Amino acid sequence: MRKPIIAGNWKMNLKVAEAVALAEALKPLVADAAAVEIVVCPTYVSLYSVAKALAGSNIAVGGQDAYVKESGAYTAAISPQMLADAGCTWTIIGHSERRHIFGDTDTLLNEKLRFALASGLKVMFCIGELLEERKSGKMEDVIKRQVVEGLKGLSSADLANVVLAYEPVWAIGTGETASPEQAEEVHVFTRALVRDMFGADAAEAIRIQYGGSVKADNAAELLAKPNVDGFLVGGAALKADSFAAIIKAGC
Ligand code: PGA
Repeated sequence: MRKPIIAGNWKMNLKVAEAVALAEALKPLVADAAAVEIVVCPTYVSLYSVAKALAGSNIAVGGQDAYVKESGAYTAAISPQMLADAGCTWTIIGHSERRHIFGDTDTLLNEKLRFALASGLKVMFCIGELLEERKSGKMEDVIKRQVVEGLKGLSSADLANVVLAYEPVWAIGTGETASPEQAEEVHVFTRALVRDMFGADAAEAIRIQYGGSVKADNAAELLAKPNVDGFLVGGAALKADSFAAIIKAGC
């Protein structure tokens, strides 16, 4: 059985005091949610304070990206070592906003993933197609490229510290959620790709989150699908009660 993992990606939202207040508000609401692994990913600026607020709780903290060097002349970048030092055990890599707004390529994302893992972080690695790619029948090609290029060079042992997040770009922040059937179809396809690369045991073990307009009222039906192993949540993770309600759907 794969333990569901539900993560909140706070993106570029919340000032430090607001982020800490959200963490403090969330803590008691999900304190008994032992059936689910919970992660929140604040901005770099808020990480340290949020991690301190959540120390000793059942909510882990993650970054939203991590660069491929430990330190040095890389203006505005943050290393996995710095994330860990600030209290993170996780980071997101390959979010569609990194791919499409900031131009992160498959090659760079593979480097980021490998360096984060080698640095001791666990990674939520995101994949997902654009609407025009889905409409023009290229969805499977895109997912395959992102998985094959993204996971290149990893060992099966590395994979134990990776969660995949399927986030169709057309569903992110749009209010348009993939149907449970659409999500399940891509999750099954993705798991088969992992099987081809790493074998049946690794494919069975890896958790695949869904992301894209997840809310309390669609979480349970998505999670009921056998290959949906949790969520990466954007907008609905910015309020303690709505994020807690999504977590409760996983319990
Ligand atoms: P959303 O974002 O829940 O606001 O659609 C999801 C994500 O980008 O991780």
